[in-house]
Amino acid sequence: MERKRILTGDRPTGKLHLGHYVGSLKNRVRLQDEYECFFIVADLHMLTTKPEKEHIEAIADNARAIVLDYLACGIDPAKSVIYLQSAVPEVCELALLFGNLITVPRLSRVPSLKEMAQGAGIEEMPFGLLGYPVLQAADILLPRSHLVPVGKDNEAHVEVTREIARRFNHLYGETFPIPEVMVSEVGSLVGTDGNAKMSKSLGNAIYLSDDEKTVVKRVMGMYTDPKRVSADVPGTVEGNPVFQYHDVFNPDKAEVEELKARYRAGKVGDVEVKEKLAKALNAFLDPIRERRAKYESQSGLADEVVYDGTMRMREEARATLSAATKAMGLAAVWNRVARKAEDVKKRRAKA
Ligand code: TRP
Repeated sequence: MERKRILTGDRPTGKLHLGHYVGSLKNRVRLQDEYECFFIVADLHMLTTKPEKEHIEAIADNARAIVLDYLACGIDPAKSVIYLQSAVPEVCELALLFGNLITVPRLSRVPSLKEMAQGAGIEEMPFGLLGYPVLQAADILLPRSHLVPVGKDNEAHVEVTREIARRFNHLYGETFPIPEVMVSEVGSLVGTDGNAKMSKSLGNAIYLSDDEKTVVKRVMGMYTDPKRVSADVPGTVEGNPVFQYHDVFNPDKAEVEELKARYRAGKVGDVEVKEKLAKALNAFLDPIRERRAKYESQSGLADEVVYDGTMRMREEARATLSAATKAMGLAAVWNRVARKAEDVKKRRAKA
């Protein structure tokens, strides 16, 4: 039996951090044997908030960084397809067709879009940004994916995809699967500053490519319980980012419980809690660093992976687009015109 498919990915705005790992990368690595995986470097999505030339010029380098992050985390380039969105133009055509199957008020209610606009300092909603989930629907349905592992902020986008797929199938006949969303159980990871979300633009991230010293520095500077002025003051564990990270990244659960108990009792300093966290994080990152070093030593590998993946995706894209336009009856319109015209030309040539 054919394996079911996954499609997910990232915008090429820079290297990936622990939040990406927890939110989605971990699931991708785990599922890559069970599913046929497609990972998109979504540069057209990046343009919805960053259309300036400087961002476009950075795509190639950022794509390389992301691919190395993927591979370092354990995504196997021999098993998974990694491709560049803008090099598969069929996605634009599919997105345009999908744009007719969803309303502006529906898209206006997608909360992440306003947040993205705000984050980018954009006052009025660009047409492209409103269409972000429509373009994402085209990404997901182009290889006819069944499952989309994403961070919590993308859950609403996959819901839009499901609505578009249902509407398409209703109007034109069964063509697309209705994809399921998979959101990680951790939800989103808080930033090192205690901000709700780890993000590059907030400067509160620990990167998958950070070296040991950088990790120690970032952890020692982390936000903790602000009411705790010295080690003998009982502290709050709940909502404390240092303990949230311990819960997610420290495999020694007994150590974490013991630290929490002492923290609550005012019997441990922040420094010790942080040192143990830095140690756990570095242990978590070590195998990722090793794999990265191995792949980095193969020059040109990241570009080759994207090249091969894009070629493969182009085939999928052509097949799906032709199935979609056929189901719509749109392909037949041109086919009839072309057949007639060719007939006429042949007859004229004979006469
Ligand atoms: N929206 C994703 C992000 O937040 C990137 C993305 C683009 C994506 N197309 C996708 C994710 C398709 C999952 C499926 O960066």
